[in-house]
Amino acid sequence: MALKQLSVRTQVAIIGGGPAGLLLSQLLHLSGVDNIILERRSRAHVEGRIRAGVLESRTAELLYRAQAGARMQHDALLHDGFNLCFGRDCLRVDVKTLAGTSLVVYGQTEITRDLYELRLAEGGQIVFESEDVALHDITDKPRVTYRLDGAQREISCDFVAGCDGFHGISRASIPAAALKTYERSLPYGWLGVLSETPPVDDELIYSRSARGFALCSMRSRSLSRYYVQCPLSDSIADWTDARFWDELRQRLPDSAASRLISGPSLEKSIAPLRSFVCEPMRFGRLFLAGDAAHIVPPTGAKGLNLAAADAGELAEALVVYYREHDDSGLENYSTRSLRGAWAAVRFSWWMTMLTHPMGDEFSDQLQRAEFEMLRRSLAAAELLARNYCGMGNL
Ligand code: APR
Ligand code: PHB
Repeated sequence: MALKQLSVRTQVAIIGGGPAGLLLSQLLHLSGVDNIILERRSRAHVEGRIRAGVLESRTAELLYRAQAGARMQHDALLHDGFNLCFGRDCLRVDVKTLAGTSLVVYGQTEITRDLYELRLAEGGQIVFESEDVALHDITDKPRVTYRLDGAQREISCDFVAGCDGFHGISRASIPAAALKTYERSLPYGWLGVLSETPPVDDELIYSRSARGFALCSMRSRSLSRYYVQCPLSDSIADWTDARFWDELRQRLPDSAASRLISGPSLEKSIAPLRSFVCEPMRFGRLFLAGDAAHIVPPTGAKGLNLAAADAGELAEALVVYYREHDDSGLENYSTRSLRGAWAAVRFSWWMTMLTHPMGDEFSDQLQRAEFEMLRRSLAAAELLARNYCGMGNL
């Protein structure tokens, strides 16, 4: 492979082989745009990470367009709605009726596996375990340097796509004066558990209880994904499996609690409830996509969908640039993606504020009033459904 050489050229160097980088790489490849992915971790490490699991239908469509939808089509679960509970009271949000579309339940882990398999089968160039990735001359003639097997290597390229997540080097390579960042964090996180047990319900349950928030999700009919809100200062060691199941049960309405089947945890992790946006999503010939540019709290199930939307937009803009020598798509990329990102930030923040007890009685009453509004007002429920399936600003 050309990557054995110390110095190579490509059209687009992609930093990060998560969903954003992989989907971008595949879409570019299908349109004949040459690209190389540099991924800091091993393939096994990336494929082993447990992340999001609810896809908007336009994300699923993008995966089909990328020819990466075969296993998803076979294995995914289609959900027409979800449940929102406030103590004992539950509201089923009928997304299909209210917004005209369903949700696709298919894990980010599976998407990543499908895309790696596809890229590698089609001769895609992916450098795993690339160390010390650094960007140079990004406003002019970009170069990316990295270390592999002890040797320093270099890629020269037309563009760099920064798809290396929140902690990556791409955003950090932009001079601070050229960026504006917005951030709001809560002192809570979500403790997530994956277990090989049948899900407690056919659909997701978002449960706001006085003890804290809980979410019942799934990856398949035999694999459950559950979360409980916890202080950010907690560590995994504080949460034995027994404590987790006991706490989850107490945070669910009785009907669900009595059906909950527990089992050994296959994975346990804590994710922060953080919102972050960086503007613009471009500096010179570097374009940011996905978590590298924005983070949303997981309550709205938007992180993966936003990453996929960025990859789709950026791929289209680059393809038009190469095909038609037209850079208008690239010029508009940041503005367009930020519009979608802020819509998702707003919705995710609102969902979080609706469902997580904040420890004061005023917030408790506001949350109850908001929940009642959703129960009584079709317009309010419709707005929730439209946002949840990604039609918030359409
Ligand atoms: N060099 C190369 N690769 C890097 C570097 C680096 N310096 N830093 C990070 N990476 C890699 C990570 O190992 C990871 O595989 O970049 C990839 C970024 O992937 P994600 O974090 O999954 O981000 P993204 O592709 O934008 O997908 C967003 O992931 O975090 C979830 O909830 C989020 O579902 C959303 C999705
Ligand atoms: C998940 O299944 O991991 C999941 C589902 C819905 C969310 C967040 C996470 O809002």
